[in-house]
Amino acid sequence: MKRKQCPPKDISLKSYFLGPQAENTQFLQSAFLEIVSHYCNWRKSLFPLDGKAISHDDQLHPQFLKNQKSIQLLMETLSLNFQNEIPQFSPRYLGHMFSELTLPGLLGHFVALLHNPNNISKESSLVGLNIEREAIDSLGKMFKWRKTIGHLTSGGTVANLEALLRMRHRIPFEHRTKAKLLTSAAAHYSWKKNLKILGYDDSALVEVPLDKYGRLCTKSFKKILTAADYPILGVVTLFGSTERGTVDDIQDVNHILELHSNMKIWHHVDAAYGGFFACAQHATHSYLAKQTDALKYIESLTLDPHKLGYVPYGCGAFLCRKSKDYFYSDVEAPYIQFKSAQEAGVQSVEGSRPATGAAATWLTSKSIGFNSDGLGRVLNRHLETKSKFQKQLSKNFKNLIFTEGSDLNILCWTVKGSTKRLSEANSKVDQLFADFPKQSLPFYISKTSLPLKKNSWLEAYLIKKGFQLDTKKCHLVRMTLMNPFLINRETEISYVQEFIRTLKSMAF
Ligand SMILES: Cc1ncc(COP(=O)(O)O)c(C=O)c1O
Repeated sequence: MKRKQCPPKDISLKSYFLGPQAENTQFLQSAFLEIVSHYCNWRKSLFPLDGKAISHDDQLHPQFLKNQKSIQLLMETLSLNFQNEIPQFSPRYLGHMFSELTLPGLLGHFVALLHNPNNISKESSLVGLNIEREAIDSLGKMFKWRKTIGHLTSGGTVANLEALLRMRHRIPFEHRTKAKLLTSAAAHYSWKKNLKILGYDDSALVEVPLDKYGRLCTKSFKKILTAADYPILGVVTLFGSTERGTVDDIQDVNHILELHSNMKIWHHVDAAYGGFFACAQHATHSYLAKQTDALKYIESLTLDPHKLGYVPYGCGAFLCRKSKDYFYSDVEAPYIQFKSAQEAGVQSVEGSRPATGAAATWLTSKSIGFNSDGLGRVLNRHLETKSKFQKQLSKNFKNLIFTEGSDLNILCWTVKGSTKRLSEANSKVDQLFADFPKQSLPFYISKTSLPLKKNSWLEAYLIKKGFQLDTKKCHLVRMTLMNPFLINRETEISYVQEFIRTLKSMAF
């Protein structure tokens, strides 16, 4: 039978991933060998006249051989242990924000891992810091920033902390303790955590209520801003909420801030999850196109290459549009000769930092490209995938209720049971979450629990959909549709149809 073919541009994208059945094994193996051989040849070429510290005879010594054998066995044990790990590479994994890695991400990471520079300073990283600068530049270009200044972090939480530290620095010292941070009520919990780290209590977090789609309500934001009688650290909007992938009306928030320009409020966008959607293609004048364009005018942004950039952990990024906002610290370290206060180690929360994330991001950007033909194309497909899942699920199950306003590739739904009680729906969601991985051919989903008090948009929506609200929380099945092979023309099964078949087979 003649196989159905993908369009050439999609075939091209397949070369960037290992593939669900490790189809690109040979390429990965030979690339790893090449990297190891490059690295070893580099060592050999540097100081050949120094002589060898490990002789051929040493290598034949029984204890030497025994140690090597033991490493091999332990390595095998370790590999076997990891076979119990979550199969996040599989299109059957539809849970949290992880998936396949790109091959360039993996290989870039491995190159830097072998060299292991410390990106704390130029004194400990000659190449790594240059790569990091170029990687940062490639990220900033997605947002059409002329010059981007920033650094890579271990992840989104630390990138958010970097933003908070700079916001606080702008507030006169004597007013700092009274200052408050305005965030979307759907903001990631790291903002709370980071405020605590800086010594603030819960009252320092002002959560702006959400609109009917679960996005930051700009009307409420305006009111809060006008009434504020406390110093404001800044405002945090979301380009892709953790729970549902909602994108706030960043453009409107920019307008409001312009009207209050005398307050000089720092606008940080937490795009840890969704930021890479800036390189996807959006219909002109669409909501996403507008919000992407609005990113040109903000102060700073968090973006996690280890999420939709498909590079290995830990790789987040804190990016500033203007260098005057980025440089804020002048601490000194007696044992490092920082050339200036502009060095990474002076400005970053973290001290020792790897170059692995930088190299992984660099290689992904140079090969796949952070543009609409490269990574953007992969992400556009996820939006299609989400629509397909929603359409097919709705067609097959009349009792699934999907939340509105999930702007990116996360699909959330609940199940209306015969009693129409929310508590019954929550139990069904919990049951599905527990049972999907137990199937003989499993799927993996995640779930979230949203308090109705904070999510009045959801409360109103559930009432509209005929639920009886006998409990204060709504549990939702949460599917992050980010596997590049979820919708494809080649595999024996259609994952959408298989998911539906599995769901039908589960009594829920
Ligand atoms: C919007 C958002 N911000 C921040 C974070 C924290 O990122 P990390 O887990 O890399 O620290 C997440 C994680 O899911 C997120 O979704």
